[in-house]
Amino acid sequence: MGETMQGLKRSHMCATLTVDHIGQEVTLMGWAQKRRDLGGVIFVDLRDRTGIMQIVFDATLCSEDFKKAESIRSEYVLAVKGEVVKRDDETINPNLTTGEIEIKVKALKILSSAQTPPFYIEEESDVNEQVRLKYRYLDLRRSDMQKNMILRHQVAKIARDFFDSNGFLEIETPMLTKSTPEGARDYLVPSRVHPGKFFALPQSPQIYKQLLMLSGMDRYFQIVKCFRDEDLRADRQPEFTQIDVEMSFIDVEDILTLNEQLLADVFKQAKGITLKTPFLRLPYQEAMDRFGSDKPDVRFDLELINLSDVVKDSDFKVFADTVAKGGSVRAINAKNAMDKFSRRDLDALVEFVKIYRAKGMAWIVVTEDELKSPITKFFNEKEIQAILDRTKAEPGDILMFVADKDQIVYDALGNLRLEIGKKMNLIDKEAYQFVWVTDFPLLEYDEEEKRYVAKHHPFTSPRDEDIDLLDTEPAKVCAKAYDIVLNGVEIGGGSIRVHSSELQQKIFETLGFSKEEAWERFGFLMEAFKYGTPPHGGIAYGLDRLVMLLAGCDSIRDVIAFPKVQNASELMINSPDEVSGKQLKELHIKID
Ligand code: AMO
Ligand code: AMP
Repeated sequence: MGETMQGLKRSHMCATLTVDHIGQEVTLMGWAQKRRDLGGVIFVDLRDRTGIMQIVFDATLCSEDFKKAESIRSEYVLAVKGEVVKRDDETINPNLTTGEIEIKVKALKILSSAQTPPFYIEEESDVNEQVRLKYRYLDLRRSDMQKNMILRHQVAKIARDFFDSNGFLEIETPMLTKSTPEGARDYLVPSRVHPGKFFALPQSPQIYKQLLMLSGMDRYFQIVKCFRDEDLRADRQPEFTQIDVEMSFIDVEDILTLNEQLLADVFKQAKGITLKTPFLRLPYQEAMDRFGSDKPDVRFDLELINLSDVVKDSDFKVFADTVAKGGSVRAINAKNAMDKFSRRDLDALVEFVKIYRAKGMAWIVVTEDELKSPITKFFNEKEIQAILDRTKAEPGDILMFVADKDQIVYDALGNLRLEIGKKMNLIDKEAYQFVWVTDFPLLEYDEEEKRYVAKHHPFTSPRDEDIDLLDTEPAKVCAKAYDIVLNGVEIGGGSIRVHSSELQQKIFETLGFSKEEAWERFGFLMEAFKYGTPPHGGIAYGLDRLVMLLAGCDSIRDVIAFPKVQNASELMINSPDEVSGKQLKELHIKID
């Protein structure tokens, strides 16, 4: 009793103890999850990263420490020394991995007291996220957040080991650098030494990793922070982490195969899941035509159906005119949806597609003996039959149509498909469905800027057979680019790169850069290409997104220790923040 706690050393973590330790004396340290006072006996759930251990204070065994134990409150930090004992049969807790044992305390030291926390430290707490983020250090004590951090660590470790054993070198690249063309706004860092000049934080290590291939490093990877000043969403943060990869002397096939092995390793080791390889592959155009998206969620069907040819001569002007103007009319067939969607639900879906700039959404409800619809009156019998045949319509189904420019139809129906999939529970939450989306267009026309922009980035190689099209029909050029999509989330993307100075310059010209501008911004790269360049290519994963999906979370904020909120601020440390006049002066900056 009252054994000295001087020089106390922790012997075990809480939930690493098992029935095999019964009879041993151990020293545990951790937080008091909760305390139950039963008069002569006090039970405390002691918590550390591994889990919970029940510790027991018996008034007859340790009167002095028993008094101290009475003062224990939630989140006090304790050191206890005691014996591992088997619990009485009636007190065994099958919900706890350590539920068969407990610690009979012989000595207690309160290492720290604690104020009442602003929320309970427990799994699946429904506390407002703002409060969680303000007290993130407490939020991170919750076991689900600890599991997420452990999982993230494991995934990074598995990836590192994988690349190491496949001959890759991890090489760091600068954080203080120059703007790279990933397409987002840059975070700028003013230079004190060079008044009026700024570094940009990297949107990705793209150019450096290509230069490392030129340097003969052969295979590079890096787990690296990237910075993009763009609007935040559930799967977008201003600073996020990439697993960034580049390889020399390879083609698309080599990269896809190697990355399937990487993902198979990650899923096997982190989740015990065996992935089926090779993954499904969809050329970009097929992905758009079938799923209305370049990141298709292929866990369920509900594919888009093109009806343009069927309705192009109909009396429904909206449809006929759209086709005449080069747009399309497409539909999805929500099978057996009739009982699930009321007239009012359909009206809500019409509003839903308008978010994606569709002008409307026509529908046909197919019942046993009639078609209910605001548009069937515009079609002749042959057209109606063709619509029903093409959509494989059966009684109980609802057909939903959007007519517009292709891009709007894809966007509206692609999102409607996801919405119906969710509403009708068509998505298997346990499934992990990978797709490689390949053969992206190299360029896309930017209506606002009135010029072509790179769909991926300007270092992406066109397909060899398409190079001549750069002069004649740039929009038709296909790229050696690929995205890896998991359950409808783009978790990574990459390409084979241009490796000749001439082709790189030509692509910059197609993008509307003058020769001078191109050389001014990327001259060092085109110059470098003149000194012997290996063909090369690579990929980068969004680590946060990958871990989010592995953890079954809906937001990458839940797998980032200290994330930022919607307006790109961090609530706990309160950044960004003002700085002193002296600092500004040194940086030659005046605030308006
Ligand atoms: P890309 O821009 O497609 O490619 O980025 C690669 C992957 O990074 C993730 N990602 C993000 N994750 C969280 N928040 C963000 N703001 C964010 N932006 C991107 C996505 C994406 O697939 N240098 C090229 C790669 C290459 O060509 O090798 C690049 O950065 O999961
Ligand atoms: P209206 O003749 O404008 O009343 O439209 C008749 C039906 O067609 C309504 O159900 C509209 O929602 C639908 N509709 C209108 N424009 C479109 C469009 N571009 N694509 C699909 N349906 C449309």
